[in-house]
Amino acid sequence: MSNEREIERRRTFGIISHPDAGKTTLTEKLLLFGGAIQSAGAVKNNKIKKTATSDFMEIEKQRGISVATSVMAFNYLDKQINILDTPGHKDFAEDTFRTLTAVDSVILVIDVANGVEAQTERLMEVCRMRNTPVIIFINKLDRDGKESFDLLDELESKLNIGVRPLTWPIGMGDRFKGVYNLYNKSLNLFSPNKTGISDDIQSIENLDSPELEELIGTDAAEELQEEVEMIEGVYDEFDRKRYLDGEVAPIFFGSAVNNFGVQELLNTFCEISPFPRGRDTDTGPVEPSDKKFSGFVFKIHANLDPKHRDRIAFLRIVSGKFERNKFYNHVRLGKKLKFPNPTSFMAQDKSVIDEAYPGDVVGLYDSGNFKIGDTLSEGETYTFKGIPSFSPEIFMELENLDPLKSKQLDKGIKQLMDEGVAQLFIQQPGNRKIVGTVGQLQFEVINYRLEHEYGAKCRFVPRNYHKACWITSDNEQNLEDFKRAKSQHIARDKDDNLVFLAETPFLLQMAEQDYREITFHKTSEFKLEMNS
Ligand code: G4P
Repeated sequence: MSNEREIERRRTFGIISHPDAGKTTLTEKLLLFGGAIQSAGAVKNNKIKKTATSDFMEIEKQRGISVATSVMAFNYLDKQINILDTPGHKDFAEDTFRTLTAVDSVILVIDVANGVEAQTERLMEVCRMRNTPVIIFINKLDRDGKESFDLLDELESKLNIGVRPLTWPIGMGDRFKGVYNLYNKSLNLFSPNKTGISDDIQSIENLDSPELEELIGTDAAEELQEEVEMIEGVYDEFDRKRYLDGEVAPIFFGSAVNNFGVQELLNTFCEISPFPRGRDTDTGPVEPSDKKFSGFVFKIHANLDPKHRDRIAFLRIVSGKFERNKFYNHVRLGKKLKFPNPTSFMAQDKSVIDEAYPGDVVGLYDSGNFKIGDTLSEGETYTFKGIPSFSPEIFMELENLDPLKSKQLDKGIKQLMDEGVAQLFIQQPGNRKIVGTVGQLQFEVINYRLEHEYGAKCRFVPRNYHKACWITSDNEQNLEDFKRAKSQHIARDKDDNLVFLAETPFLLQMAEQDYREITFHKTSEFKLEMNS
């Protein structure tokens, strides 16, 4: 198959949702359709239960399983589908944000009863920043929920995106009869079905036909006719270009657990979703069709077996063809590397592959060369943009509890930071280590892993910071003045960049007002911005 054909048949996307809306269930059903798993329940374990914040065994288990389920690839129709898993737990939001840099589109799952929830908004903000195309699946129609038109208004206003229903529900809860497909004018009748993959789909060209009444009853038929008329009046025709530009989200209704409406979602997804897109670098865009190979690391996973320190770096291929055992350029290190065992993740199995194409994600065994955001190329020296660190929300000072193990502690903390578990800021004097995260759970993970994998013991002491801002200025003297005035709140990040740790929003605002020649960057990506 030609490179072009390989690119066109790939679809790389993520499923996002507020916890409990049904992401795991939907993922599982998609895998069932793709033949990637044989029975429901296989993906279910890949979930940290929302309540189990201290259950380390659960975290350990999660780490093991999530290597296999971080990427789930399968063939469906003539497409190769790559689903990238995004953790639902809010404390792993940063991990999810990074994974979203490696997808070309997303499916957002909404619980019909809860509508837009806190985590939905945050995740969608990230998608909107990149104009990622979004399909919305409104789930749990077998339960009572919000009225459909109200829900559409809520989606538009809270998520800042246009919507266009492509299916429409007939009733909900106990009265749920099925969905009408506005796109290809067919009716899919609901029957609870938790394991199989057969939908009862009837073609209904004309909503006035007596056949419709026979199938769903007079009242429901009338209601559907009215509502469809309203939809056609209120919403513009579905415009694929606007979907691809991230301006409008097609909407599907269904019930993931009953495997209902899922096949329609998948079929339409295959038809309309984008094939692999290019990415920006500090020297300009790189397109999938470019002949030379390139890719970037968006996730690093530690080996489950603590005795083996090697890790798996997840590389998203952007252009060209990746080949096993070929030397590639590790741009940040300026070093040539080759990979004898690159891994793909077809279905639940890992297997060594000889080649991979744009849109694919390969796992590279790594003994410490990679950090999140690293670029791999066939000689070029550009760096991919778009994988910034955001300011953490919780800050703690790390205290070593066993001075004899300080080397192990330093090594462990460095490796965990490379994996993107948290961010480290060093403060002087005294080389004080401030660890910043988006959630409390990470501190427990770090503590546990430092002890079990590196034999180091530490504890965390809360530091009352509001935000970390990366600071730069064209005026060296100004920067020096600022550093002197705020010396207690100045730190360096892992790449030695200057960071201002602001205690409150007010103090940050004051600093911005008082030092106008200094730029306070909200993400660590400022260097690439300045180069381009
Ligand atoms: P998440 O990954 O987004 O966190 O959600 P997950 O798929 O785990 O689903 C959360 C809960 O919602 C699960 O119930 C799941 O069975 C249920 N669910 C998913 N889709 C539907 C649906 O279409 N209708 C209804 N009524 N429920 C649905 P649970 O009790 O937390 O887990 P389980 O014991 O059922 O596995």
